[in-house]
Amino acid sequence: MNAPLPAEVLKQHLIDPEICIRCNTCEETCPIKAITHDSNNYVVDPDICNGCMACVPPCPTGAIDNWRLMVRAEAYGVQEQLGWEELPGEKALPETAAALPADDVPAATDLAAPAPFSAPGATVPPWSAAHPYVNLYTHKTPMTATVVGNYRVTGADTESDIHHIVLDFGELPFPVLEGQSIGILPPGVDAQGRPHHARQYSLASPRDGERAGYNNLSLTVKRVTEDHAGAAAHGVCSNYLCDLAKNDKVQVIGPFGHTFLMPNHPRANLIMICTGTGSAPMRAMTERYRRRIDTGENGRLLLFFGARTERELPYFGPLMKLPRDFIDINLALSRETGQPKRYVQDLIRERAASVRELLADRNTCIYVCGLKGMEVGVLDALRDVTVQGGQDWSILHDALRREGRLHFETY
Ligand code: A2P
Repeated sequence: MNAPLPAEVLKQHLIDPEICIRCNTCEETCPIKAITHDSNNYVVDPDICNGCMACVPPCPTGAIDNWRLMVRAEAYGVQEQLGWEELPGEKALPETAAALPADDVPAATDLAAPAPFSAPGATVPPWSAAHPYVNLYTHKTPMTATVVGNYRVTGADTESDIHHIVLDFGELPFPVLEGQSIGILPPGVDAQGRPHHARQYSLASPRDGERAGYNNLSLTVKRVTEDHAGAAAHGVCSNYLCDLAKNDKVQVIGPFGHTFLMPNHPRANLIMICTGTGSAPMRAMTERYRRRIDTGENGRLLLFFGARTERELPYFGPLMKLPRDFIDINLALSRETGQPKRYVQDLIRERAASVRELLADRNTCIYVCGLKGMEVGVLDALRDVTVQGGQDWSILHDALRREGRLHFETY
C-alpha cells in the first residue's frame, strides 16, 4: 500500500488586526505587492508573499510580525483575512505534513538581516537613539487622556485649519520619544457599523512633555475637508480632534515607532525636511534641542519647511522667533502672491553647499515628513547636491540607510 503524499507546509505571514493601525507602511514597502487592504484590514496574500521580510522592520506596531505554520492548500486566503477581527490560533499540522527546510521559511527572529534597502529610508534608528517604548496601550486596552489645550496654528482666514492639541495623561505612564506617534480612537462606528480604527499622529512635543516636566504631549492635526484629489471628504478623526474642548476625554493607543528617532549623542546635526503637519516631529526635535541650548552639546539644525503661504505654515510665529544661530530656517512657499512657486526640494538645491557639508559629517541625520509626493523630489535633490560635489549618491544613500541616518514618514 502506498503511503499518503506529504502535504506541503507554508509558514504563512499574517497581520494582527487588533494591533495594526492601518498606516499603509507595509503595503508601500512590500516589493512584490503581496499586501492589500480594504476598509477593515490589511492582509498578506499567501500566493504572492515570499517571506522576504522587507515589510517587517518598518511596521511601527509589530502587527506585521505574525506567522502560522499551515498546510499550503489550507492557507488563509485574502478574502477570509479581510473579514477577521482577530488572528486565528495556531492549528495542529496533520502527521502527513512535510515541513519545509528551516532555511526556506523566514523566522520572525530573522530581523537582524532585513532585505536591504527596499525602502528609501533606513529601517534602523541612529546608533545613539534612546530606546523607545511601543504598544503600551492597544485597541483592547486604550488609555484615556484629557485635552488640556486646542488652538489653531494657521491664519484664521486660510483654508488650512491646523490645530495644536495638547493631551495630558495624569498619573499614568505614557513614555515617548521625538519622532514617535500615537493612535487616536475616534468615537462612533464606520459605515459597516464597526468601531472606527485608530488614526495615527506624530508627536509635536519632546520626550519631557509639551510643557517640560509634565506628563503631556502635543499633536499637530489638520482638519480634513477634502481628499487628495480635492473632492469633498470628511476626515472622521481630524474633525473630531479639531473640535475637542478643554477637559474632553480622548482614547489613545501607542506609542508607535522605533526607527524615526533622533540621535542622542552630543553635536549630532539634524537636517529636517517637512511640509504642513509633517512639521510635528521637527517641532519635537527642535524643542528638544532648544531646551538644552545652554549645554553647548547641540549640533547644527537645518530646516526645510514647505507650505502654501506663511499664514498656512503651522507654528510660523514661534518658529521665526528662534535664534538664527540655533536653527537655519528655509521656507518653501508654493502659493504666496507675487512669489514663484517653491518646494522644499528647490531650497535643498539652493542650499547645496550647506547640505553637502552636513551630509559629509557622519553625525548628521536626515528626517523627511509630510506629503508622499515630496519623497521622490527630496531624494532627487539630495542626489543632485551629492553628485555636484563629486560624490557617488548610491554609496552615500546606502550608508545613510545602513547607519539609520535617513528617515521618511510620508502620507
Ligand atoms: P502646492 O501648493 O503645490 O499644493 P498642503 O498644504 O497641501 O499640506 O501642502 C503643503 C505644501 O507642500 C504645499 O506648499 C504644497 O504645494 C507642497 N507640495 C505639494 N506637493 C509636493 C511635492 N510633490 N513635493 C514637495 N512639496 C509639495
